[in-house]
This record gives sequence, structure tokens and C-alpha cells, in this order.
Amino acid sequence: MSKTSATKFNHTSAADLADRETLRANARKKLEDGAITDSYTADRKEVVKLLNEALATEYVCVLRYYRHYFMAKGMLADAVKAEFLEHAKQEQDHAGMLAERIVQLGGEPDLNPDTLTARSHAEYKEGSDLRDMVKENLIAERIAIDSYRQMINYIGDKDTTTKRILERILEQEEEHADEFADMLEGWIGK
Ligand SMILES: [Fe+2]
Ligand SMILES: [Fe+2]
Repeated sequence: MSKTSATKFNHTSAADLADRETLRANARKKLEDGAITDSYTADRKEVVKLLNEALATEYVCVLRYYRHYFMAKGMLADAVKAEFLEHAKQEQDHAGMLAERIVQLGGEPDLNPDTLTARSHAEYKEGSDLRDMVKENLIAERIAIDSYRQMINYIGDKDTTTKRILERILEQEEEHADEFADMLEGWIGK
């Protein structure tokens, strides 16, 4: 991005807004950048890198939830299994949202399974019994919450679309954590 076009979008008042001719002329430049125009002021490479870390985290969570869903046993298993399955699907949706945004930003989603756990924030913990599985998921959700909040604060208003996507995901991770915290609080037996 050139310096002049960047300052054009640094308005302090309505009078500084780019006029119609400037908007039209700018839109015709660098068409290969698609949705990314000169008014995008975030560090695109850095945003893609962060989104790829979040993407790896989501896939590790998908796999952990499926493992727990298939392995859950015991008195409370039915109710907890349903939660694990629902979360697995929701983490998959999060992964989809992140991957789509990465492509929009001109990046490539890194789905290489060889390096997935190393790139993920959360861990793939199998858990020893049902209660332990719930606990491990609560920990993973809390990791996700902190990492999404950090990303949102870093991106700020420089990339409002990415920020909105991350906020939507964060809201759901908080719901997930809350559900597990409630479960653990009322846990009876092993
Ligand atoms: Fe998620
Ligand atoms: Fe989650």
C-alpha cells in the first residue's frame, strides 16, 4: 500500500472522507487483491498467521471432542456425549469461518495434519474418565478464550471483519466453557 493512499483513509472528520472520484479510482487499482483494498490497515501477513494458529487450535478441538464423544462411558455419559458432539460440530464451523477469512485475506489455510498439534494453542488430551474429559475440555476452552481475546485486542479496528468473526467465535467458546464449568460444579460420582 502506498503512503498517500493510506493517509487518504485516515480521516479525522467527515470532510476528509474520500470523494466519489477517489473511491472509484482506488477501486480500479490492484483488482487482484479482491476484497482487500487500500483502506485495510492491518498487517495482513500477521493476521493470516494468527488466524492459522486459531485454525489449528479449532481442528485439534474438533478431534478431541470426537474422541471424547466416542469414548464417553458411565452414568452421565448420554448427556455429556451430546455436548461433546455439539461442540465438535461448532468447532468445525469455527474452523470454516477462519479458513474462509484466511483465503479472503490472500493467505492459505494450513491444514497439514503433521504439524497440527504443534501449531495449536490447545492440547489434544484424551482424558482418563468422563469427568477428566470434561475438565480437559474446560481447560482447552479457557485457552481458546484467552487466545481469541488477545487476537481481538491486537487487531482492534484495523480489520473489523476479522474482528467480528473472532468475536462471534469467542462468544461461543465462552458458552462452551460455561457449560463445562456448570457440569463440573454439579458433578456426582466419578
Ligand atoms: Fe472453537
Ligand atoms: Fe469451544
